[in-house]
Amino acid sequence: MRWPARLNVVTGKGGTGKTTVAAALALALAADGRRTLLIEVEERQGIAGIFDRAPLPYAERPVAVGYPGTASEGGGEVFALAVDAEEALLEYLDLFYRLGRAGKALKKLGAIDFATTVAPGVRDVLLTGKVKEAVTRTENGHRVYDAVVLDAPPTGRIGRFLNVTAETARLTKVGPIKNQSVGVAAVLRSPVTAVHVVTLLEEMPVQETADAVAELHRLDLPVGNIVVNNTQAPLLPKGKVGQTELRKGLVAAGLPATKGVVTGLLDEAKAHLVRGGIEDQLRAELEALGRPIVELPALAEGMSLDGLYALAGVLLDARLDDDARVD
Ligand SMILES: Nc1ncnc2c1ncn2[C@@H]1O[C@H](COP(=O)(O)OP(=O)(O)O)[C@@H](O)[C@H]1O
Ligand SMILES: [Mg+2]
Repeated sequence: MRWPARLNVVTGKGGTGKTTVAAALALALAADGRRTLLIEVEERQGIAGIFDRAPLPYAERPVAVGYPGTASEGGGEVFALAVDAEEALLEYLDLFYRLGRAGKALKKLGAIDFATTVAPGVRDVLLTGKVKEAVTRTENGHRVYDAVVLDAPPTGRIGRFLNVTAETARLTKVGPIKNQSVGVAAVLRSPVTAVHVVTLLEEMPVQETADAVAELHRLDLPVGNIVVNNTQAPLLPKGKVGQTELRKGLVAAGLPATKGVVTGLLDEAKAHLVRGGIEDQLRAELEALGRPIVELPALAEGMSLDGLYALAGVLLDARLDDDARVD
């Protein structure tokens, strides 16, 4: 069986549903007894919020059963991790320089702050380095995670965040940071990775999606799916709504069909059709980007854990992107 990318990076304009889609994708990829890791890097504790948990530490913790939500039906495990740049740096120093306690002392001295705030390129290498480590980690010859989903920075910052080698090349020519960034760049540009872009059917997010896809192509980063979130099925069939037709319908339903009611409904119907036309136009713009499109419905009852599993089911049915699959 073919399966989507092992590293799924989820970006999108802020507020379009990045965290929601990343979480739903982690549930979907944990169907059939698989194990996934959902990672966030922006210190927002968005994952804890979605799964109704206390703030996540810098440690991998199980947060949910995979789709459809019970182990007896094949649901595997979803783990979550909130990556903290300082902790990642300490771990890194320990790994490469066996600094251990000395690293903690460095942190007290403020040296760590310097590294993470003054050199954002290094910060991104540490964050993406941790992601790569989780993607490639094995235990007794087996992969620890079947898939990793990253709730990534928004479209405006995604190119710089993922283009780690370019950023660090300016800072360091040799040494472990350089090697680390080369390794990360190789994974990000390999077929195991897919960068998915979340959007809404609105002008600004669609424009940002187009810009992000162009930038990712330019940086040679693999674009996965475009996920159109929060969609609504049209209430009316396409075409015109006639006054006579409307009045007849109201009468047939035993409802008042006064002039006021008819013109009021007619205005609403027209506005709805205009909106539908704009959405068709935006869908066409998204299709022109040449990537597979998955539409997720707006959950009528608002967000809930059940709703999240429902979105996971839609993602699973869509079977995601053929190009972005690995065996
Ligand atoms: N398909 C959906 N149906 C209903 N509400 C949604 C849907 N997707 C996202 N939301 C809600 O929209 C808000 C923004 O989503 P979120 O995933 O936090 O966005 P982002 O991470 O891009 O800022 C949240 O309140 C979330 O619950
Ligand atoms: Mg978010």
